[in-house]
Amino acid sequence: MTTGTSTEITAEQTAREQALVDEVAASFEKAANPRLKQLLQSLVRHLHAYVREVCLTQDEWETAIRFLTDAGHITDDKRQEFILLSDVLGISMQTIAVSNEAVGDATEATVFGPFFVEDAPHIEQGGDIGGGAPGTPCWVEGTVRDTMGTPLPGARIEVWEADDEGLYDVQHSDGRVYGRAHLYSDDQARFRFWALQPTPYPIPHDGPVGALLAAVGRSPMRAAHLHFMVTRPGHRTLVTHLFVEGDPQLETGDSVFGVKESLVKRFEPQKAGTPTPDGHALEGPWSRTKFDIVLVPERQS
Ligand code: BEZ
Ligand code: FE
Repeated sequence: MTTGTSTEITAEQTAREQALVDEVAASFEKAANPRLKQLLQSLVRHLHAYVREVCLTQDEWETAIRFLTDAGHITDDKRQEFILLSDVLGISMQTIAVSNEAVGDATEATVFGPFFVEDAPHIEQGGDIGGGAPGTPCWVEGTVRDTMGTPLPGARIEVWEADDEGLYDVQHSDGRVYGRAHLYSDDQARFRFWALQPTPYPIPHDGPVGALLAAVGRSPMRAAHLHFMVTRPGHRTLVTHLFVEGDPQLETGDSVFGVKESLVKRFEPQKAGTPTPDGHALEGPWSRTKFDIVLVPERQS
């Protein structure tokens, strides 16, 4: 039985461990797909190195297997515990960083999250993505251009967000659709719509990933945000968020490491009675923000 504490390793021991790593890596040598071969061989080398570095015990190995089994049991077509695990380990954000290389002043990408839905309602310019969700109205306006400065009309802009209780429509079990919509940038590459002032909320934490966060004293809270996905033929698809300047959760930390300084924007609070940009009558307070989106042309990405 190993103890998990590293002692002097003999040359014989090192040779045995290395022989096993090499044997496993070699077992993928004949893979027809060279990329699959690279992915598996590298994975094996890194995992074996990890086992040696931490001197993984049999008990710890069993705990890890139990954790993954529990993650599998709670996963279905609505709940994806493995993506959540990837998110809280920063793997999702690292993959996004690697596959969205920085180009000029292109808008930074961040996590997709589990609450996007295809076929969200279409709204016209100035429409309301809230769709009746409770929350403080927020006017969002901006432009879409590429990294060369060319305005991009006709970009499809998907927007989605949680209500003021921190829940997405799909987390309610009554089939409601709110807090999501899509629109297109206009002839002058501008867009404007009503949304809700974003509020902080926790990632789903009633499963094994939540237990892991609790065990290490980490909060499941995400910084307040508004999700965007912007697509336009010939351009790299952008999946990103708008974060709220002054949100205390920005200081405490975002549970999935999604915050980028460049995505933190000022949301200006407006007193009740302040005239709205589109003349829309509102009874209570509201807020407004600006988000200029910069896409990468595919030939540059
Ligand atoms: C979200 O933004 O909604 C989210 C992102 C990652 C994990 C869970 C939720
Ligand atoms: Fe979200």
